[in-house]
Amino acid sequence: MKKIKISPSILSADFSQLGNEIKRLEDGGADMIHVDVMDGHFVPNLTIGPPVIKALRDYTKLPFDVHLMISPVHKYIKNYAEAGADIITLHPEATENLKETINHVKKLGKKVGVSLNPNTKIDIIKNFLSEINLVLIMSVHPGFGGQKFIPDVLEKVKELKKIKDQQSLNFDIEIDGGINFDNSKLAIKAGANILVSGTTIFKNNNGNIKKNIDILKTS
Ligand code: DX5
Ligand code: ZN
Repeated sequence: MKKIKISPSILSADFSQLGNEIKRLEDGGADMIHVDVMDGHFVPNLTIGPPVIKALRDYTKLPFDVHLMISPVHKYIKNYAEAGADIITLHPEATENLKETINHVKKLGKKVGVSLNPNTKIDIIKNFLSEINLVLIMSVHPGFGGQKFIPDVLEKVKELKKIKDQQSLNFDIEIDGGINFDNSKLAIKAGANILVSGTTIFKNNNGNIKKNIDILKTS
């Protein structure tokens, strides 16, 4: 059983203090930093891009788990790799050639993830599972923090975990969106080993980040 890792989403952080917020997450026991990049086109929201990631890079040694909700994605991958991303996760719908984009990320020396929206089936990535480091299962429709968890996606996590075990593959299963202290247990039981959380980590227990990360870790 893989160790449960926590990847707090800075989408719920104080954007006027992002550097200090990242330090708070590291001090609070985060395993990596989930950076939600949105372009206002692939999703109806606009957040940050490579210059901000570059500016944040030296605030922590933790891996930057960069979730690209942008389209087209292929031509921008290099910008995020050079800005300091460690894991680059993209949506299959955002590229014309998923194999080519996966290889592009790997050639840049970065880990590559593929993200499935709630209505997207595993089928479209089945042939790539041995080539990627991570599958990001969206448990909300991407674009905003603070949304309600969609429990139906747990079946997808279970199906993915079954394939992973049957084929002795090693990719991480990360779940993202509406994760709280109750559904985190269900997500882990279904087979997720990385939990993304923004609202629960930044807002619960009067914003006690360490306490919130500890509770999620011991789900
Ligand atoms: C949504 C993002 C998620 C979101 C998680 O499009 O991909 O990472 O910020 O935030 P919460 O935990 O508040 O749902
Ligand atoms: Zn995300």
